[in-house]
Amino acid sequence: MENSIKATTILSEEHKNISKVIEAISAECDRVESGNPLDKEFFEKTADFIVNYADKSHHAKEEEILFPELKKDDVQMHCDPVPQMLYEHDEGRLFVKGLSQGIEDGDVGAVVKNAMAYVSLIRDHIYKEDNILYPMADEALSDEAQKCMLAQFDEAEKIFAAGARDRCLAIVKEFENKGS
Ligand SMILES: [Fe+2]
Ligand SMILES: [Fe+2]
Repeated sequence: MENSIKATTILSEEHKNISKVIEAISAECDRVESGNPLDKEFFEKTADFIVNYADKSHHAKEEEILFPELKKDDVQMHCDPVPQMLYEHDEGRLFVKGLSQGIEDGDVGAVVKNAMAYVSLIRDHIYKEDNILYPMADEALSDEAQKCMLAQFDEAEKIFAAGARDRCLAIVKEFENKGS
């Protein structure tokens, strides 16, 4: 399409923020596993970011806007990766539940186990979307569909709970050097 900004461009940009947090989680889990005490506040922020940014905002854009667009009759794709992506979103939700429960119980093992499972799932998930699903979507969707999705994305931003977007972006900024 002649206008270079596409819905998938926005989603890939969001992946960059999610990846920064993921790498910080991985580094923090390494610290805990090498005997450092659990930084409860770090993991509380992590759960907040995953629930509000990665899931409620990013996954909602995929599940409620992009994926339904790909299901439309006139969209031709040689395979349908959407069911697998949905399955992985659900798996992620289970790991975050386990993470939050672990924080509440002060169960260090459960925190690290669920956090690392989430890291490895979402790293792989983001790779598949950036390199397989999104290019397929861009190939299959019309300029009209892209424009329509961008307008819906703008609407979707408005459902962010008050302050949640800024809080999540502040977490990205705070964490971005932890993972490197
Ligand atoms: Fe996804
Ligand atoms: Fe995604």
